[in-house]
Order: sequence, then C-alpha cells, then structure tokens
Amino acid sequence: MDIRLRRTPFYLPGKIINLDIVDDVEALITDLSDADLVPCWAEIWPAARSLARYIWEHLDLTGKTLMELGSGLGLPGTVCGLKGATVTFSDYNQDAVQLSLHNAGLNGVSAAGYQGDWRNFMLTEKYDWIIGSDVFYDPKLNPYVLKIFRNNLKEGGQLLLSHQCRKHTYDFVQQVITELGMTEIRVDTVEKDAESAFGQFSISIHHLLKPGL
Ligand SMILES: C[S@@+](CC[C@H](N)C(=O)[O-])C[C@H]1O[C@@H](n2cnc3c(N)ncnc32)[C@H](O)[C@@H]1O
Repeated sequence: MDIRLRRTPFYLPGKIINLDIVDDVEALITDLSDADLVPCWAEIWPAARSLARYIWEHLDLTGKTLMELGSGLGLPGTVCGLKGATVTFSDYNQDAVQLSLHNAGLNGVSAAGYQGDWRNFMLTEKYDWIIGSDVFYDPKLNPYVLKIFRNNLKEGGQLLLSHQCRKHTYDFVQQVITELGMTEIRVDTVEKDAESAFGQFSISIHHLLKPGL
C-alpha cells in the first residue's frame, strides 16, 4: 500500500486506541463523479467514533462472532475485538480492509478480512453481530444490504448501525425492523469534533435485535 499514514490516538474511558489514518485523503481522489471511487473509506467518520464509544461502554462481546460492513479504517470493529468478539472486517476497497486489519493489530486484536462488494457478496458465514457506521446512505444499495442481513445474521443475532441522522438511513432501518421482525434500542447522541468547522455532529445509533428460533 503506497499511502502515507499518520498515527493518532482515539480516547475511550480508561483506554487509548491507536489508529493509523490516511494523512492526505484528498490525494486519493481520482474521480468524484463515480461514487465507488470516492475515498470515503479513508476517513474516520463521526458515526464511527460514537459507535466505538457505545460498544466500549455498553457491550460484552465475549465469544461472539461479528462482521463490520464498510469498515473503512476499522475503528468500531477494533473496539469489538477488544470487547471479546471474533471480528471480520469487510469492505469493497482493498486498502480499507488492509488498514482495518492493521489498526486492529496495532491494538492487539487479531481479525479476519473480506474484500467484497455488497452487490455481489460471497461470504456465507453467519455472524452473531453485524455492525456498520455511516454506511447505509445510498438507497440503491439497500436491497443488497438487506440480503446480507438475511443471509449472514444468525437467528437471535444483533445489528448495530450508526449514522449522521441521515433520512435515507432512518428509512432503511425502519425497513429492516419491519422485514426482519427486529426490535430496536435507539440512542441519539452528539459527537464533538474540534477539527471540524461544524464543531459537532448529531448521531443516531440503532441497536437491533433479531428474534431467536
Ligand atoms: C462513509 S464510509 C464509512 C467508513 C467507516 N465505517 C466509518 O464510519 O468511518 C463508507 C464505507 O462503506 C464502504 N462501501 C461503500 N459502498 C460499498 C459497497 N457497495 N460494498 C462494500 N463496501 C462499500 C466504503 O468503501 C467505505 O469504507
């Protein structure tokens, strides 16, 4: 991978996560007119930071299998590994999968990686948990993601989805709840971001539970 990285800390209560992040994301831009070529994988988005905190503060994933969809730089999945999960990072961008694995390793988490597009998803394994931060914003992709939830989430499994209060994502979460008969715990929070001109972002976290057999 020929990408310049910069190490940065991410602070959780009682724990510092070290992350190697892309130093110059703009240098990766080649064609902004093609959504699949926009290097959105190369940022740690506010929704990922809020989800990482929720996982750290609320979940015990000991002995659970978990897949992160659209893992980008792998922050939430890394925290899941620290909370005991056996993690698989997935993304259609090869550098994203590699950097997710690298960042997990930096923090003592060993994980698996799968490079694959939701539109042609070949993983057949079923997981106890599937998580994703800032990923379900394009309605065209929703049918493929719904299929992944149907195929790859165990009975009694759980989903964790976070986003910047996007209307499309709320609509999609409602569709998932209805079609898979899930129940929801929703947490609305604010992610402070001193580096952003906005200063802070409103984030919704949806914790969905699928009924067991
Ligand atoms: C906005 S980024 C979020 C990255 C990370 N989850 C975060 O919150 O920091 C969206 C992620 O989804 C991935 N992605 C987008 N479309 C995808 C597709 N069709 N198949 C697989 N991954 C996809 C991107 O490569 C990127 O890593």
